[in-house]
Amino acid sequence: MRPPCHLAAAREASRPDSREHAVSPSRQGWPLQSYLELAALPSAVPCARLHARLVVAEWDLDALSETAELIASELTTNAITATRSIGSVYPVRLWVQSDYSRTLITVGDSSPDPPRRLGPAGDTEGGRGLLLVEALSSRWGWHAIHQRGTTKAVWAELRDGGASMSGTTQGSGRVAGEDPWPG
Ligand SMILES: Nc1ncnc2c1ncn2[C@@H]1O[C@H](COP(=O)(O)OP(=O)(O)OP(=O)(O)O)[C@@H](O)[C@H]1O
Ligand SMILES: [Mg+2]
Repeated sequence: MRPPCHLAAAREASRPDSREHAVSPSRQGWPLQSYLELAALPSAVPCARLHARLVVAEWDLDALSETAELIASELTTNAITATRSIGSVYPVRLWVQSDYSRTLITVGDSSPDPPRRLGPAGDTEGGRGLLLVEALSSRWGWHAIHQRGTTKAVWAELRDGGASMSGTTQGSGRVAGEDPWPG
């Protein structure tokens, strides 16, 4: 049986500019846009995964489906953990955007704390999520935003076929170079 988020995910997937998106600080330059708001509950993670997979497939970017799903999963899991740790009632927000050559997955939450890329640390638990995001994306980063309870957004960018092997990955928080979410 399909999870209840399936219909919402399919409805939100849109072709160019057919729908207004709440709390989207930067829509410009992304002809393909999707937005999903999720309560900060563990059940949001499978919804985010499915949503990312479906919209990317809807946009005929099937080669990115699995990667988009994994990144959405890790970023959403972190956002939910951070939201719940401060007792916030605000939702977690997921954006998927693409111009066909670049696909951006962004998750917003209400925690003021930034993501911290932890180094690989043997058998220590945790710290693998952002390492995975870093490995799968061409670059990732975060920035502060202030809209309707959402205080920051963590994003990861996929280029064409997915992960870059060129060594250009950057993941120490804010990235150098052009920010796909300017100002
Ligand atoms: N959205 C976020 N808001 C606040 N802090 C975050 C956020 N995302 C990540 N962090 C911080 O960055 C750390 C590293 O995240 P990462 O996903 O790599 O590991 P983890 O979530 O601790 O463990 P796991 O291996 O299960 O993902 C987290 O422990 C948390 O302190
Ligand atoms: Mg994590």
